[in-house]
Amino acid sequence: MASSRGEFSSRLGFILAAAGSAVGLGNIWGFPTQTATNGGAAFVLVYLILAFCLAYPAFMAELVIGRYGQANAVTSMQKMSRHMWQKRFAFIVGFGGVICAGLILSFYGIIAGWMMSYAVEPAANLLGMQSVSDWVITQGHVRNILFAAVFMFLTIFIIRKGVEQGIEKWSKRLMPALIGLLILLILYVITLDGATDGLRAYLQPDMSRVFEPDLLISALGQAFFSLSLGTSVMVIYGSYISKKENLVKLGAQVTLIDVTIAFMAGLLIIPAMYVAQHQGVQIFAADGSLISGPSMVFAVLPSLFEGMGAIGLFVGFAFFVLMSIAALTSSISMLEGPVSYAVERHNLERKKATTLIGLIIFAMSVVIIFNLDFMLDLVAMIATEYGQPIIAMLCCVFVGWIWNRNDMLVEIKQGNPEVESSLFWKVWPWYTKFVCPAAILMVFIHSL
Ligand code: PHE
Repeated sequence: MASSRGEFSSRLGFILAAAGSAVGLGNIWGFPTQTATNGGAAFVLVYLILAFCLAYPAFMAELVIGRYGQANAVTSMQKMSRHMWQKRFAFIVGFGGVICAGLILSFYGIIAGWMMSYAVEPAANLLGMQSVSDWVITQGHVRNILFAAVFMFLTIFIIRKGVEQGIEKWSKRLMPALIGLLILLILYVITLDGATDGLRAYLQPDMSRVFEPDLLISALGQAFFSLSLGTSVMVIYGSYISKKENLVKLGAQVTLIDVTIAFMAGLLIIPAMYVAQHQGVQIFAADGSLISGPSMVFAVLPSLFEGMGAIGLFVGFAFFVLMSIAALTSSISMLEGPVSYAVERHNLERKKATTLIGLIIFAMSVVIIFNLDFMLDLVAMIATEYGQPIIAMLCCVFVGWIWNRNDMLVEIKQGNPEVESSLFWKVWPWYTKFVCPAAILMVFIHSL
């Protein structure tokens, strides 16, 4: 029943929770890496355009579905359906999103665990526990399982507490901490030798690369992953927004925060790489491209921090705490998708559902850990390259082709009575109907 459901208690609560979901390893790690490998500032420019012109409309589709349905993704889309086949289709799309969220969490938790272990390392070092600090950064099943378990425990702990006391309260604490830490780290890194070279690579676009197909596709994929689309997460967060709020504006604010934090992360990581190079760390691979992927965050950055002497311990600690916080505000949203589904569709008690689903996903993480070489990439690929784009596309199809246009207007008008005469209403319905599905289809075909 709608009245017994959770709801964000304030506008800020929603903004920080949704931005918390959106801002994660994808922004602080994925975006700078993609920027480095795709021509620096040219990628930044294309990303900004696509995030606002394509990801934002698709994000709005998911938020609107949730707020209209006041329920998990399956129930919400079934409320929009008139025929039996549409209800079945709603089930496939909604449940697909729930599964996708679970899959993402199963590998995301492992990487987040590594981030935590790299935060423990300088702390242990400072306390003189050399053997601990060596052990936590050495690849091994026990270490991987331990840190993934701690991370999953934190995620379960927050989600068990519900929307207001869990998601909202913790997002309000963690997001400002994240932004504060990020700013401090940027200010520190840009004072170091070599940082200006990094800033130049990041901010001076090579316009000739802007239309490269690979760059376009990577930027679009990055924008969709970053806004947590295609996972039922934004549908359920949308369902917790009060009918008094202006959805169009809230969605735009969250997109803006997500993009800004990705941009700021680039401002930290790219100069940090060049500072590391200045200190003798190798940042270019043999073929001349920038080192990317896990090798960079877990090799280049720690050696950069080491080169700073004693203060490096604090900077390294702060950086990996930052990564862990960003991951946590995303992982709670990934768990909320399946949990809200189990609670609303199968009448499970929230705390029980959270623990049960959390443990199942953790068991999947353990399986991945034992087969790390091939399963980590495989699961990530299935969920983010296939699952997310297909489901996000189908959500747009649902809104554009199946939902009644009048109902759509009535829903969006709540909290935004003037919307009918706005640019948004003139462009968005048409956009979600044609442009978004077509563009996402392009990404998908490319990933094949
Ligand atoms: N948007 C998150 C990030 O950038 C990842 C995420 C994907 C979160 C899907 C929730 C659902 O890291």
